[in-house]
Amino acid sequence: MADIFERLLKNAGPLGQHRERAHGYFSFPKLEGEIGSRMKFRGKDMIVWSLNNYLGLANHPAVRKADADAAAAYGLASPMGARMMSGNTDQHEQLESELAAFVFKQDAILMNFGYQGIMSTIDAICSRHDVIVYDAESHACIIDGLRLHTGHRYVFKHNDLEDFEKQMQRATALIEKQNAGGILVITEGVFGMAGDQGKLKEIAALKNKYSFRLLVDDAHGFGTLGKTGAGAGEAQGCQDAIDLYFSTFAKSMASIGAFLAGDKAIIDFIRYNIRSQIFAKSLPMPLVIGNLKRLEMLRTMPELKEKLWSNALKLQAGLKERSFDIGKTDTPVTPVYMIGGVEEATAMVMDLRENYKIFCSIVIYPVIPKGHIIYRLIPTASHTDADIQETLVAFTETKAKLDAGAYKVEAIPDMAEKK
Ligand SMILES: Cc1ncc(COP(=O)(O)O)c(C=O)c1O
Repeated sequence: MADIFERLLKNAGPLGQHRERAHGYFSFPKLEGEIGSRMKFRGKDMIVWSLNNYLGLANHPAVRKADADAAAAYGLASPMGARMMSGNTDQHEQLESELAAFVFKQDAILMNFGYQGIMSTIDAICSRHDVIVYDAESHACIIDGLRLHTGHRYVFKHNDLEDFEKQMQRATALIEKQNAGGILVITEGVFGMAGDQGKLKEIAALKNKYSFRLLVDDAHGFGTLGKTGAGAGEAQGCQDAIDLYFSTFAKSMASIGAFLAGDKAIIDFIRYNIRSQIFAKSLPMPLVIGNLKRLEMLRTMPELKEKLWSNALKLQAGLKERSFDIGKTDTPVTPVYMIGGVEEATAMVMDLRENYKIFCSIVIYPVIPKGHIIYRLIPTASHTDADIQETLVAFTETKAKLDAGAYKVEAIPDMAEKK
């Protein structure tokens, strides 16, 4: 018989195999200091482009005060128990109704984490006869939610409406053959890697042709898109057609938790059937009160979203002027596509950090195909013109070095934290 642990030690996985050289630098880096556009990494000041702190709320004095006051008043324990049993409060319900109103829905339910929330939502609403049709580039939490689904699922090519219709026809035919079940379509408001919006308007229009319910994960759109910040559905003028609207608080709200909004009767069904909430402790009071404060700021401080967009457009225009390929983004998420191997990418990241003081995330093989590198920059309302200009210079210079082969190294540089 095999020993499971022995197998794990033999093969650490596609990313884990690099951990001896990468840990603490390329993976699991430690950013220190107050959250903002400039933080410390290994003792050096860096311009940081890796945080989904879109509106700059993470370190806003009003947010810090609300969090601290709530923690002083309630501690982290309160309320004890799951909401259904003993952990419900007026403030939890107030946050739910304010969130629902903010995204133009009748009701909302809080979730402790977005990842678990989406998985558990899929589990709660789908029966074994239902068919799920989903975008190929869906976030891991959607993919894991599909693993809980005992019925069929069809994937459509990313944002490809022709393929979407093909999969809808297959799903419809299967439902007719089974003579049972319905179709749930799942996509995202903003795809967090490439920054392109999901084709919500076009999918919504196909409700005239096919029968389905639409669940949208708008983690990156909530607070950043739409006239009032209600997200990608508002931006595309189709919020009404989204049957279940989901967002995490982990991005524009710079917090923890998530919510799902929709028609009252359906949210009530989910409230009584979502296992990840029914069998888990309620969100702690400081998070609920802190999130109420953040939501108030989303509603009353449109200047934060305007600053985010002004920074995003300056960064993206600057990159395009310098002939960088930033793909199809139509949101603040700013990918920069380059060609190079894993080792080259790490050497370039090291140069960016050590010599240019730029801290940004890279995506490499096996997350994307071999030979490709994606730098992912997240502009926020906290970035300054100087941050953007210094970054543009750094990218121009390091890209020239990459093209000249200056980063060709044998192995990933050994930058692991030595204890
Ligand atoms: C698209 C998307 N959905 C869901 C999640 C998970 O949310 P949470 O961090 O609240 O678990 C994330 C990441 O935060 C995300 O990017």
